[in-house]
Amino acid sequence: MQIPFSDRLMSLTGYAFAEVDKKVVELKARGITPIDFGIGDPSEPTPEVVRRALQKAVDARATSGYPSYIGAPEFRHMVATWTKLRFGVDLNPETEICSSIGAKEAVFHFPFAILNPGDVVIVPNPGYPPYVRGTQFAGGEVFYVNLLPGNNFLPDLASIPEDVLRRAKIMWINYPNNPTGALAPLEFLKDVVVFGHKHSIIIASDEPYTENYFGSEKPHSILEVAKEGVVAFHSLSKRSCMTCYRVGWVAGDERIIAAFKKFKTNIDSGTPTFVQDAAIAALSDESHVAAFRELIREKRNLIVDALVAAGLPECRPEATLYIWQRIPKGMTSVEFATKLLDPSIAVVVTPGNWISAEVNGINPGEGYVRLALVPSKEECRVAEDKIKKLEMLLGLG
Ligand SMILES: Cc1ncc(COP(=O)(O)O)c(C=O)c1O
Repeated sequence: MQIPFSDRLMSLTGYAFAEVDKKVVELKARGITPIDFGIGDPSEPTPEVVRRALQKAVDARATSGYPSYIGAPEFRHMVATWTKLRFGVDLNPETEICSSIGAKEAVFHFPFAILNPGDVVIVPNPGYPPYVRGTQFAGGEVFYVNLLPGNNFLPDLASIPEDVLRRAKIMWINYPNNPTGALAPLEFLKDVVVFGHKHSIIIASDEPYTENYFGSEKPHSILEVAKEGVVAFHSLSKRSCMTCYRVGWVAGDERIIAAFKKFKTNIDSGTPTFVQDAAIAALSDESHVAAFRELIREKRNLIVDALVAAGLPECRPEATLYIWQRIPKGMTSVEFATKLLDPSIAVVVTPGNWISAEVNGINPGEGYVRLALVPSKEECRVAEDKIKKLEMLLGLG
């Protein structure tokens, strides 16, 4: 029997990780375990305060029952309290907040609630893949705006053509930014909101890294600027090392939240209530967040200093868990990533061109690799010594 799958699914290209994967397998066969800076999944344990809350909640909720589609009232109230404390923004828990199963689920599904076939979604490039995949599955078209160092990795709003502006329904922004580590000044967020209002484009601001910052100025939320025409996506994955828990929320314009809630009742049956209880415990505690920030800062400094010592340009991120490292001229990102897999170094990174698209012959991720600061501090110390050996391998310095 032939099993025909959907054209949309079949048209997806897989990640071209084969080359690096093959090298990793070869290293492992030789008894070398590489240090993996590839995927942004923190290796630190989920804070004890969160784990205890989950354990207690499982017993307290012995009778299972479906969760609320939109989030338990206690959870939505906690989100409102935290948003007020952190960003100074008032949210109505009844109308302006909806829970999600982590940010990824909400990011992927959001276009389904908004788009008609052929509508355009403006997407940052490089960017988190579900902005594109969610658009495509919802029948929309993607328009990429490149994030370039010359523009501090902010999209150039003036570069978006008129015909795109007429057809666009959503524009994704993501600050602090994965993968570039860039922050958005409040002025930029104000400009984006004005731009969205002018062209009737919803500004969808993906904000899972607002708590992973290193400087004295805290990253802003788009909600500090406006709620009208705006929706923010939050998650506890990177704030509280809760990637496994799958909990987040969307907040903003009540008309958009109402549409999203309506759509969501057709997809899933909500975030497990005991996970929401754990999320309430996480949002009630800032000490673990500060400790995690400090740890990432230390790891960032170890690795950036090692890369600089090896003769590479300094690319010290201001926020997120990522280093967007410029590589030497005359090499491709894949060649550089492959060099790091030399047995004397054995460090896994992601070639920048794999997480960005080629548009008009230019891939803005080419010339970069991404390092996710997820190995333990001890592993980062080992990697620090090894990365310094790059200087010899590449003849830099
Ligand atoms: C930019 C961005 N948005 C959203 C997410 C999704 O996070 P989660 O689904 O774990 O909440 C990630 C995860 O890496 C991300 O990098």
